[in-house]
Amino acid sequence: MELSQKTIILGVTGGIAAYKSAYLVRLLTQAGATVHVVMTRAAQDFVGKTTFQALSGHPVLTDTIGNDHDTMEHIHLTRQADAIIIAPATANTIANLANGQAHDLLSAMCLAKGKCPLLIAPAMNHEMWSHPATQRNIQTLKQDGCQIFGPNSGVQACGENGPGRMLEPEELLAEIIAFFQPKYLSQKHVLITAGPTQEPIDPVRVISNLSSGQMGYALARAAKESGAKVTLISGPTALPQPYGVERINVHTAKQMYEAVMKAVDECDIFISVAAVADWYIKNYRSEKIKKSNQKIGLDLEFGENPDILASVAQLPHPPYCVGFAAETNDLFEHAQAKLTRKKIPMIIANLSQDAMNLPHTDVWVLTENEKIHLHPGPKLAVARNLINIIAEHYYQSLRSQA
Ligand code: CTP
Repeated sequence: MELSQKTIILGVTGGIAAYKSAYLVRLLTQAGATVHVVMTRAAQDFVGKTTFQALSGHPVLTDTIGNDHDTMEHIHLTRQADAIIIAPATANTIANLANGQAHDLLSAMCLAKGKCPLLIAPAMNHEMWSHPATQRNIQTLKQDGCQIFGPNSGVQACGENGPGRMLEPEELLAEIIAFFQPKYLSQKHVLITAGPTQEPIDPVRVISNLSSGQMGYALARAAKESGAKVTLISGPTALPQPYGVERINVHTAKQMYEAVMKAVDECDIFISVAAVADWYIKNYRSEKIKKSNQKIGLDLEFGENPDILASVAQLPHPPYCVGFAAETNDLFEHAQAKLTRKKIPMIIANLSQDAMNLPHTDVWVLTENEKIHLHPGPKLAVARNLINIIAEHYYQSLRSQA
């Protein structure tokens, strides 16, 4: 329940994307938010009030005049709200907001909102979006402190193609959740490896491990939420790409090594979460090995893969490096040994039976002279705490270098 205790005002204006906002209400309420919907007259030509009323569980507000329960609704509601999100926000709405117009309840609320943050999800034809007047209005709104979410580019309701599509409801939910997270890493670039690697034996067989990638993906999301630019280099997983994160897919440890080395110069922090295969198969067969040609078992020769984390830590100007140690026994001895051997300032230690392929985890943060036990829980919650701790130590390391 990532939005429990949050009250959100959803403003719906007159665009075809209004139908998607009905699903946004469902997602927001499922995330624990209390949602009050305000519709403009034009919005009601696209979707009926009843839909939003049923989904939000609250009466839909439509106008200042004739509102029988509270004539000061535009003031009172914004005082209780944690944010106003306008989705979809038409070009006309954006122009009105940029100019401080108060034609109807929604625009009056935006003018009377006080400190309540205003989040805007534009939706319009690409020519309208690119028009200098709209771009000017968007700049004005940004200067006024509004957050602009999107728009996406793609095929539009009119059949044309270009920027102006409203973000999908799931993407808007991710933006709204991220909006409430502290921005520990704004302007920073975080590089993360995640998931298992696969070492091919023949065209249909690989050696791999049980890593699901969940912790690396949770850290990618948490880093993105905290304001960082995030590059995720991922071995094969079944997980969806975290919203707003650049993902580079690889299979083998060597591919992961090359992708990391290509990206590492631009990054400030490197978090090595991947369960990298230690060995590759030297005698890879280009044709499928037939059972009938083998004695019992396969005659495999192994070569050592590069240690990606240790290689990054040895660069002349390394980013702040964080490793992971998943152990079955003697957790602290093994983790501490890896910290020293790989010459890194921080390692996250966990027992593989408490974390691997599971949705929750239980971790310790080890540095040269600290051992911090984090509150165990879902991987995203733990990842958010970890990002906070990593950011603190990263800034400390910058200060000590200065
Ligand atoms: N790691 C890496 N490249 C490798 C092996 C490991 O970047 N070839 C990183 C992992 O992403 C992790 C840390 O090193 O952050 C520790 O990985 P782990 O597999 O636990 O340690 P190893 O060094 O492989 O040692 P061992 O397998 O003996 O436990």
